[in-house]
Amino acid sequence: MPERMVSGVLTKPDTALEMTLRPSLFSDFTGQLKVKERLEIAVEAARQRKEALDHILLSGPPGLGKTTLANILAKAMGGTLKSTSGPTIEKAADLAGLLTNLEEGDVLFIDEIHRLQKTIEEYLYPAMEDFKLDIIIDQGPNARSVRLSLPRFTLIGATTRSGLLSSPLLTRFPIRERVDYYTAEQLQKIVVRASNLLGITIEEQGAAEIARRSRGTPRIANNLLRRVRDYAQVRGDGRITSSIADLALAMLEIDENGLDEMDKRILEAIIVKFGGGPVGVSSLAVAVGEEPDTLEEVYEPYLIMEGYLNRTPQGRIATEKSYKKLGLTRPTGNQGGLFN
Ligand SMILES: Nc1ncnc2c1ncn2[C@@H]1O[C@H](COP(=O)(O)OP(=O)(O)O)[C@@H](O)[C@H]1O
Ligand SMILES: [Mg+2]
Repeated sequence: MPERMVSGVLTKPDTALEMTLRPSLFSDFTGQLKVKERLEIAVEAARQRKEALDHILLSGPPGLGKTTLANILAKAMGGTLKSTSGPTIEKAADLAGLLTNLEEGDVLFIDEIHRLQKTIEEYLYPAMEDFKLDIIIDQGPNARSVRLSLPRFTLIGATTRSGLLSSPLLTRFPIRERVDYYTAEQLQKIVVRASNLLGITIEEQGAAEIARRSRGTPRIANNLLRRVRDYAQVRGDGRITSSIADLALAMLEIDENGLDEMDKRILEAIIVKFGGGPVGVSSLAVAVGEEPDTLEEVYEPYLIMEGYLNRTPQGRIATEKSYKKLGLTRPTGNQGGLFN
């Protein structure tokens, strides 16, 4: 069913392929067990009380299932999901249009909610808390404020940068959940499921190979699966075996451990420019040309989880594993800076 467009601020529905692969039920959603359990309980309780689900903020790095969860939640509640995103809402009237078009039990999904303008954010507060919208009609001497009642709806916000959310907005979300990177086993399950949906023949070991190199991220795993499928079709008999997966990923120059360009740039900066650290996040951010928040919320969690980086009160330190990764030798003695 196509989404209804409301004053042009609803974001486009996802591509057909994303729709096919995106789980629509909690039972098809792999991993994030604790998050899933808490959300399922919230849904069940709200349904029993015949109330709208509380507003939910989903945070975490890109590609880990925030939009997917928003869809699952709307469906589980029996409501319609209306999707938009922070930067798309340019005027208060855009927001008013979205809100007044909602029906009881609908879910308004605002992606990249950290990019919502401050002035628009303020209209959201009474809407979230009291289901009221104060709008100003007319201009000049005739201008007056009118208070509209909104249907009970659920706002689901998603963000990769929860640190950028203002505290008034943050505290208006009774439920806040963070999605985290997936283990290789979980990603393997996701790859096998996607293969079944796409009619691809894949061996367990082939799926494991793709999973291992997907940076803990389902979106990357699904993308690599498609590239490997192409390779298997053209250079093999179409089946994804462990060796076909390995050859395909090598041809694509996908890192053995799934690190991407920015990951490597970060490790290299710490080691080469800052003698292995400790280095503060702002200096590191300048060195790699990224924003400190993005480093902290998008890149570092994976590097820390995989043991490439340590976060200390003095700053970031590259571990032995990082030196190995870049083929460098860690200097002996404490004050590094030189290496072979
Ligand atoms: N837990 C999961 N199980 C199976 N597939 C998933 C899961 N999480 C994400 N995906 C897949 O990864 C893709 C990206 O997820 P998405 O929800 O768009 O991430 P985000 O909104 O966090 O950037 C989806 O299209 C879906 O196919
Ligand atoms: Mg998303």
